[in-house]
Amino acid sequence: MLDPNTPALILAPMDGITDAPMRALQGSFGSFSFAVTEFLRVSAHPIPRKVFKRDIPELSNGSKTSTDLPVQVQLLGGDPGRMASSAYAAVLAGARGIDINFGCPAPTVNRHDGGASLLNYPHRIREIVSAVRDAVPDGIPVSAKLRLGWDDVDSIYRNAAMAAEGGASWLTIHARTRTQGYRPPVYWRPIGRARASLGLPVVANGDIWTLQDFCRCRDETGCIHFMLGRGALADPGLSHAIATGLGIAKSPMPETNWLRLFTGLAEAIGEPKLALCRIKQWAKIAHLYGWFPAFDAIKLAQSVPETLACLQAASISEILPSTEDGSSWRAFPMRDSRLVEDAFPPATTGNNRPLTYIPTPV
Ligand SMILES: Cc1cc2nc3c(=O)[nH]c(=O)nc-3n(C[C@H](O)[C@H](O)[C@H](O)COP(=O)(O)O)c2cc1C
Repeated sequence: MLDPNTPALILAPMDGITDAPMRALQGSFGSFSFAVTEFLRVSAHPIPRKVFKRDIPELSNGSKTSTDLPVQVQLLGGDPGRMASSAYAAVLAGARGIDINFGCPAPTVNRHDGGASLLNYPHRIREIVSAVRDAVPDGIPVSAKLRLGWDDVDSIYRNAAMAAEGGASWLTIHARTRTQGYRPPVYWRPIGRARASLGLPVVANGDIWTLQDFCRCRDETGCIHFMLGRGALADPGLSHAIATGLGIAKSPMPETNWLRLFTGLAEAIGEPKLALCRIKQWAKIAHLYGWFPAFDAIKLAQSVPETLACLQAASISEILPSTEDGSSWRAFPMRDSRLVEDAFPPATTGNNRPLTYIPTPV
């Protein structure tokens, strides 16, 4: 899935955002190497095979989206045995790779021994990775996604070493601590130091909003593997610009605009209320982080057709080339990052327990 010597761009898991329709849509750009699913939470019981089949439709399609983007399954939980059984069930359901979430900052998750709370117990990271590694066939990669630490960026060195000792095939590191939530700054340099001290690939992640951010992240980390989350929505052309820079774009960027993107997403989702909610969510991210002047009109729309009509009326269906070299459609300076915490509605897990992914400010 991830070749240590080949550059890669990975679509970040974002609970409540990068669901199957969004993964398929992003896959159609030909930019991403693979996508990681939103986390599935392992609580009192292992997750059965049928739940993987139900929640991750790609597993019935060779673990790929309809647009041919490979998908890796992410699990979250603190019990090695139940994580291992769940990983095995995921493989029986068709998973071709397992990722373990050690970064989720949601208080509800952390109180229940999952996500970033495990960053306080490096030996448990090793145990969980090792149990999952042992449970699945050798050909199935097992990776770990970490933040830099709970409240200390230097924790990454020990935690990364433990994940590697547990047998992780690669690590993804989000360049923030848990207590930072999503607030700036990101600290990319420790990712580079961790990478240099480990004998396995490291995927750099966090706050890549523009091509310039990508270049700085690459220079500060020395990585050739990157994960892109919110930036992929704020500027839909960014992933392709980065993939082109990495020399891995699979096809030219398809001609598109906001109208086509939103129409495509609504069609893929099908259910009208959910489609409306997801379109507004995307528009809000683009409004906060990128360029989306019609947000004020769209947020009052009551239906998908009304939303699309607003877009047309505002004449912003075209997404304009952003940088002078045309590498990205539009890249604007970030707005006040405090606004950003409002951008994401409460998320839910596959187990249907309400969660707020964004932690309360500390
Ligand atoms: C709404 C939201 C949901 C997220 N859900 C997940 C998740 O399910 N699993 C995970 O490992 N990370 C999750 N993340 C973290 C992202 O994968 C990524 O690490 C983070 O957004 C930083 O990358 P970015 O700056 O490119 O967005 C989530 C982030 C957001 C904003």
